[in-house]
Amino acid sequence: MDSEKRSFLVLHGPNLNLLGNREVEIYGNLSLEELNGLLHTEAEKLGVIVECYQSNSEGDLLDRIHGAVGNYQGIIINPGAFSHYSIALRDALAGVDIPAVEVHLSNIYAREEFRHRSVIAPVVQGQICGFGPLSYYLALRALVNYCDR
Ligand code: DQA
Repeated sequence: MDSEKRSFLVLHGPNLNLLGNREVEIYGNLSLEELNGLLHTEAEKLGVIVECYQSNSEGDLLDRIHGAVGNYQGIIINPGAFSHYSIALRDALAGVDIPAVEVHLSNIYAREEFRHRSVIAPVVQGQICGFGPLSYYLALRALVNYCDR
């Protein structure tokens, strides 16, 4: 029964609503809707539920993280540019007792220097980047596996 399935929250940060049109040479042709569809299919295979949410607003993302307590077993987050400077997002993830994985479509370490630092990475279980949409699948698999332990 669905009510017995574990739920995972997928948070997409700023500008990820533009996927499919935005810098396609870096982020690919897949739209956010298509990416979320693939994640739902992957979740079904793993026997879990994913709920996906995108916001361009830091406050919305903070509210979603706070609201995840008691409702989700894990969080997958692509904080977009917030990765590089949002202490508020970092504090929110550190403040809730929910395992989380940071994902990026691109390899942030192979890009501009300002992207090399993530303020999120130290407060999550792990980070996966550079594999395009596969980064999200890998994060989901890792998180489900981590929560099974
Ligand atoms: C990104 C990488 C960030 O540096 C950038 O600001 C994004 C997307 C990625 O998925 O590769 O918006 O998080």
